Amino acid sequence: MLWLSALLLVAQLSAAKPLNSKRWTDLSVKHAWVEIPRGWEYHSAPPADHLLDMRIGLKQDKIDQLISSLYEVSDPAHEKYGKHLSKEEVDALVAPHPDSVDAVESWLEHHGINPADAHFRSTAGEWVTIRVSVAQAEQMLNTKYGVYYHPASGSQVVRTMGYSLPTELHSHVDVISPTTYFGTMHSMRATSFVLPQTATGDEDSFAAEISPLAVPASCGTTITPACLRALYNTTNYVPKATATNKLGITGYLEEFANDADLQTFFKQFRTDAVGETFTHVQVNGGLNTQSDPGVEANLDIQYSLGIAAPTTATFWSTGGSPPFKADTFTTTNTNEPYLDWLNFVLNQTTVTQTISTSYGDDEQTVPLDYATSVCNMFAQLGARGTTLLFSSGDEGVGGGNCEANDGTNKVEFQPAFPASCPFVTAVGGTRSVNPEVAINFSGGGFSRYFAQPSYQTASVQPFLTALGTKFTGLFNASGRAYPDVAAQATGFQVVIGGRVSSVAGTSCSAPTVAGVIALLNDFLISQGKAPLGFINPLIYSTAKTGFNDIVSGSNPACGQAGFTAAAGWDPVTGLGTPDFLRLQALIG
Ligand SMILES: *[C@@H]1O[C@H](CO)[C@@H](O)[C@H](O)[C@H]1NC(C)=O
Ligand SMILES: *[C@@H]1O[C@H](CO)[C@@H](O)[C@H](O)[C@H]1NC(C)=O
Ligand SMILES: *[C@@H]1O[C@H](CO)[C@@H](O)[C@H](O)[C@H]1NC(C)=O
Ligand SMILES: *[C@@H]1O[C@H](CO)[C@@H](O)[C@H](O)[C@H]1NC(C)=O
Repeated sequence: MLWLSALLLVAQLSAAKPLNSKRWTDLSVKHAWVEIPRGWEYHSAPPADHLLDMRIGLKQDKIDQLISSLYEVSDPAHEKYGKHLSKEEVDALVAPHPDSVDAVESWLEHHGINPADAHFRSTAGEWVTIRVSVAQAEQMLNTKYGVYYHPASGSQVVRTMGYSLPTELHSHVDVISPTTYFGTMHSMRATSFVLPQTATGDEDSFAAEISPLAVPASCGTTITPACLRALYNTTNYVPKATATNKLGITGYLEEFANDADLQTFFKQFRTDAVGETFTHVQVNGGLNTQSDPGVEANLDIQYSLGIAAPTTATFWSTGGSPPFKADTFTTTNTNEPYLDWLNFVLNQTTVTQTISTSYGDDEQTVPLDYATSVCNMFAQLGARGTTLLFSSGDEGVGGGNCEANDGTNKVEFQPAFPASCPFVTAVGGTRSVNPEVAINFSGGGFSRYFAQPSYQTASVQPFLTALGTKFTGLFNASGRAYPDVAAQATGFQVVIGGRVSSVAGTSCSAPTVAGVIALLNDFLISQGKAPLGFINPLIYSTAKTGFNDIVSGSNPACGQAGFTAAAGWDPVTGLGTPDFLRLQALIG
């Protein structure tokens, strides 16, 4: 709305320009990398007339108030608990200050861009997308763009090693993209992998042989919905609020959730759900290629619904394809998956109460300004009543060679983002039954970007005290600690292209917990209560005893033994695995 004043301002500001000739030429660095992000290579200079969709994230004027509101409505001890904000209330807090709008508009005008021509603007006005040529972006940001190549995935993107903004704009602009965030839909890691087929497992007999409340020994190696429903005590719960309660799965990497495979899965593993379907929603040109079922997409939809059916479910396929090809001059795709998906869902008037995502990056490869913007957008969803589950990653305390990318090459534990964002619930992995133990690839540790939120201090401190000086210098003990919770992470029987494969990864764990949370939300909503929303303040306090504490196993990586699961919270399995019946009693 504020942007509609653009035309008037233009006149005023062009008059003012000569008096402020330094205003837009005094630039200082906003973000720069010391070295090309690992896994990427410089390829070539992009054509000067290649078009970019430049996203400008304006400073959200009342973001501190938004975060306070998030904590109020999520803290079971607060009088506002469960009083989630509407879209309009959130928009009012994230809208930029008129001074920020004015400053950005006159900067655009200085560069000959009419702000009224913005290609996209969010309803609150804090995101503005303008379509500019590479040459123009280079001039505005005092930088050089390059085409960078990612040999492992074959993808190419147009990015820059650093960018600058007029000094005056630093206090008005949070982030500009695409600039230094190289992670793309093609290189974001999906945290699942297919296991080699082991025993011939007669899956048909699994469903039949499991009595509703017992957890048979076979679940120690082969996971079906019946195992998880028995293990986490959801077997006897019958959803009642299916008209309002919704479950969502995000899909990237051109991963498609297959309708026929879901029916095959139900026929084999959850016969009472045969005929239950989900809705495909395509975001930013995302596709829905039914002939190309994805492991990650099928796993996520089959297991969240394997637990929560007949809850209403949505699969978002977020696109951005085709990726940049150096020889194609016309594409404007800039592959910013989180921003596109977030802007899409934040513009909906009703929220999906439970959302599971199984993608992530090493935190250090995501620029701090970009990570902060995305994390704050997750806070908006939480304030509106959504529970966001993210897998914690499959690389224990750190991926690859664990070297810092600040030029020192120092070996350090490498946290994962978005799991490290304090406004999401990160899900680690377990294996085996009676007892469940931590799986050795379970991602966990401490953020270097985000401070430890107060909701977890009392639970994390005993772990740190017991750890003493072990691993000092390898992690930041004052950072946001994760994961928050855990669930089974190996031996999942997933139907892919009509055949059953065995899948592992914390990608299995996030949709499992999402299924349990969706049923808890169903229970609350069917009683006329608010959904759980952002659950961390609840689970670290009054609902702590609703989890099965996991007390053995560790997550070795980076040439180190990794953290060890122990009584209470630990950076391998968090607070533990969910017990639906106990949680239901605690929140009812
Ligand atoms: C937001 O949703 C409204 C209503 O569906 C639509 O008219 C508008 O174009 C959307 N805005 C954006 C920025 O996506
Ligand atoms: C993790 O466990 C698997 C299977 O038990 C084993 O093959 C692998 O070597 C372990 N990884 C590490 C890093 O210890
Ligand atoms: C540790 O985390 C805190 C809180 O996020 C941050 O302020 C500090 O800079 C971090 N220290 C290091 C050495 O990364
Ligand atoms: C939930 O299931 C577990 C394992 O089957 C069992 O030990 C536990 O007592 C159950 N919880 C409740 C509240 O019944």
